[in-house]
Amino acid sequence: MNAELDFASANAVVTGAGSGIGRSIALELARLGTQVLVADINGEAAAAVAAEITAAGGTAISRGVDVTDLASVEALADDAFGEFGRVDILCNNAGVTWRPFRAVWNAKISDWRWMMEVNFFGVLNGVQTFLPRMREQSGRKHIVNTSSLAVHSTNPGHAPYTASKHAVDGLSDVLREELVDHRDDFGVTVLYPGLITTNIGETSKAVRQQETGDDLSDAIAYEQVRTFDFPHNAPKSPENVGKQVVEAIRQNDPYCITHPAPTDQIEERGRLLARGYRGH
Ligand SMILES: NC(=O)c1ccc[n+]([C@@H]2O[C@H](COP(=O)([O-])OP(=O)(O)OC[C@H]3O[C@@H](n4cnc5c(N)ncnc54)[C@H](O)[C@@H]3O)[C@@H](O)[C@H]2O)c1
Repeated sequence: MNAELDFASANAVVTGAGSGIGRSIALELARLGTQVLVADINGEAAAAVAAEITAAGGTAISRGVDVTDLASVEALADDAFGEFGRVDILCNNAGVTWRPFRAVWNAKISDWRWMMEVNFFGVLNGVQTFLPRMREQSGRKHIVNTSSLAVHSTNPGHAPYTASKHAVDGLSDVLREELVDHRDDFGVTVLYPGLITTNIGETSKAVRQQETGDDLSDAIAYEQVRTFDFPHNAPKSPENVGKQVVEAIRQNDPYCITHPAPTDQIEERGRLLARGYRGH
């Protein structure tokens, strides 16, 4: 990695920035002088965050985007490069969860598809669309892809979400090494939020009904048998996440975690994996 990323002269695009974690990232980048394109499927919410930034003395524009729609993300990239000339930071953050939690045997294929469309293909559409143009630029570039600490702990009832976030991890980890191999001055951070108090449950229901018309009234809620006391299930406000993300970009860290990591679960998985070797 060559020079430090100069936030004061950088341009950023943040998806899902009309609310919660994305809003926090957009506000913090703008506070450091970065020009921000605030993007969200909820165009009014994105415009309100851009107005908040402008009122505080920062520079921001907003766009409505549906990250599941490649043409919509391509239009977003055209706007971003058209307005800013270059994009130094891309945060693929838009994502959804599902309520109520449901067992794998009660999840419909349409549940899985929708979750993958937003949480995985939404991130992939951002990478595919922005990365080639960003690679042509000189200077440091950075992508932040939002995953979840759910991938490092086991949450019965939350399989489609967990699987979609594992896909984000796989994409990001391989991409990072490819960029290293090709000596690109390009960092990739995976953001792992723990429980952050946002409107994600309600927003996700509304977005799904609005986008797909899927009827969720017959969803059978997962019957919780065990309770898990993970450190990352202690609720935190989204306020500080922007600062955590900026620090990870600054340090070019591969991972940014908002809560203490579920080390016991990670180590137990590693131990069981190693024990799985059967020789030949
Ligand atoms: N809140 C948590 O506890 C938590 C934990 C782990 C991971 N995450 C992840 O953090 C990210 C942000 O979530 P949040 O908690 O801030 O939720 P949020 O609902 O407050 O914000 C998400 C935003 O994404 C937007 N969005 C949804 N679908 C979209 C689409 N197709 N195209 C463009 N925008 C779309 C929504 O309108 C919303 O404004 C998500 O990827 C989520 O999975 C959140």
